[in-house]
Amino acid sequence: MFPIVFYIGAFLVIIISNWLYSWWNPRCNGVLPPGSMGWPLLGETLQFFAPNPTSDIPPFVKKRMQRYGPIFKTSLVGRPVIISTDADLNYFIFQQEGQLFQSWYPDTFTEIFGRQNVGSLHGFMYKYLKNMVLNLFGPESLKKMLPEVEQASNRNLERWSHQTTVEIKEATAQMIFDLTAKKLISYDSEKSSENLRENFVAFIQGLISFPLNIPGTAYSKCLQGRKKAMRMLRNMLKERRERPRKTQTDFFDYILEELQREDTLLTEAIALDLMFVLLFASFETTSLALTLAIKFLVEHPLVLEELTEEHDAIIKRRENPDSGLTWNEYKSMKFTFQFINETVRLANIVPGIFRKALKETKFKEYTIPAGWAVMVCPPAVHLNPTKYRNPLDFNPWRWEGIDTNGASRNFMAFGGGMRFCVGTDFTKVQMAVFLHCLVTKYKWKAIKGGDILRTPGLQFPNGYHIHIAEKEK
Ligand code: HEM
Ligand SMILES: *[C@@H]1O[C@H](CO)[C@@H](O)[C@H](O)[C@H]1NC(C)=O
Repeated sequence: MFPIVFYIGAFLVIIISNWLYSWWNPRCNGVLPPGSMGWPLLGETLQFFAPNPTSDIPPFVKKRMQRYGPIFKTSLVGRPVIISTDADLNYFIFQQEGQLFQSWYPDTFTEIFGRQNVGSLHGFMYKYLKNMVLNLFGPESLKKMLPEVEQASNRNLERWSHQTTVEIKEATAQMIFDLTAKKLISYDSEKSSENLRENFVAFIQGLISFPLNIPGTAYSKCLQGRKKAMRMLRNMLKERRERPRKTQTDFFDYILEELQREDTLLTEAIALDLMFVLLFASFETTSLALTLAIKFLVEHPLVLEELTEEHDAIIKRRENPDSGLTWNEYKSMKFTFQFINETVRLANIVPGIFRKALKETKFKEYTIPAGWAVMVCPPAVHLNPTKYRNPLDFNPWRWEGIDTNGASRNFMAFGGGMRFCVGTDFTKVQMAVFLHCLVTKYKWKAIKGGDILRTPGLQFPNGYHIHIAEKEK
């Protein structure tokens, strides 16, 4: 009896130690970047997601940069990952999209967002969808949207100014959701019996949670929220199909027309997944940026002064001060765009951009094995003291006369290369127009909240409550 148990035991020990050895020393045909693979299976996942209140480079990344240099390896959510804080490697990764690297997000994300969303589709289908989206959020479309954004901003600000306090994160999220939903699917939250955004809120709260799908967990609520939102979207599309409209106006009309073409690649499932991603991507990110912008204005009166001057001057130059914003006026908001750049630089709303290495790739002295994940870390670039002097200071003037040729390597709040954010201009229009309405007509003060937390995505755990009042004329 004894020898068999002994042999099995010895066999297991050898297997396990072999496995542990290969976990800590992954195979590679060259030199892997330095770094630790952490615990077996778990890797360094827990350290990576540990909440922290800093606006600096995430402590997880900063510590490892100091220990290992700008490029290092780790393991996250069961995957070997190379983390890059190196501007040249980041640039290389963005340029090689579809060749050496490809968009990749953890499996839980794919589960949550649908398998066919724009983020994970590749090649031909991808370009086709992207053009559709770009059409929708391109300059021609945005020009037409300008008055809508202005009216929505004025309407909401008016309402908020009659409240004792307003939680600005929630309030701007609702405003932007309504704007986007109206643009995409002509959804009107005030006229609808079902609340579409409610489902998105449940969805977001569980997004960065442990993927355990049993009733009551945040993750389960997240999946439920997605399911309900998808059902609503499906019903809306069905309704529209039954009662088509004469003039093509929104994304639904666009999709229905496309689905009717014989040679189309689009399916209803893809269209609905895409709709979901667009609605999600649009309101959460922009409302975080706007909330932080308002916080910066409270903390930096000189910035508020210059911003207000720019916008008062726009109105003064007009023949009729009550006529709406024009595209030329929008384009002339020089300081506002500096302010927006500075806000998103420090906001670091997207803490990591993920790719997968399709082939073995050499970079400098290192080798990135095929199949490994790569995470580009925008905060490390945006807070690099050799590129941005006193990087933690909020200083919109630093963008004055900045050399925009090399700038794209040092600014990646909206990503880079082929996968550059399609919503960039849309975000800028919404932010600039809202700020225009805010600083010309209102004053405000902070009441409570405004603390930030990064998990590692930016959050306002107790909101940001402010009091808004009309300026006396
Ligand atoms: C402050 C606001 C925003 C920030 C910071 C932001 C950031 C980003 C970043 C970093 C990426 C690149 C992801 C990657 O390379 O894997 C991206 C992609 C994307 N964004 Fe945004 N975004 C914002 C607003 C928006 C808005 C308003 C929309 C909706 C219209 C939008 C839709 C998208 C889509 C569809 C993609 C995927 C593009 C692709 O894979 O080619 N974003 N965004
Ligand atoms: C904002 O940043 C982008 C990207 O670096 C740059 O092209 C643009 O000129 C900047 N805008 C201003 C007003 O500095």
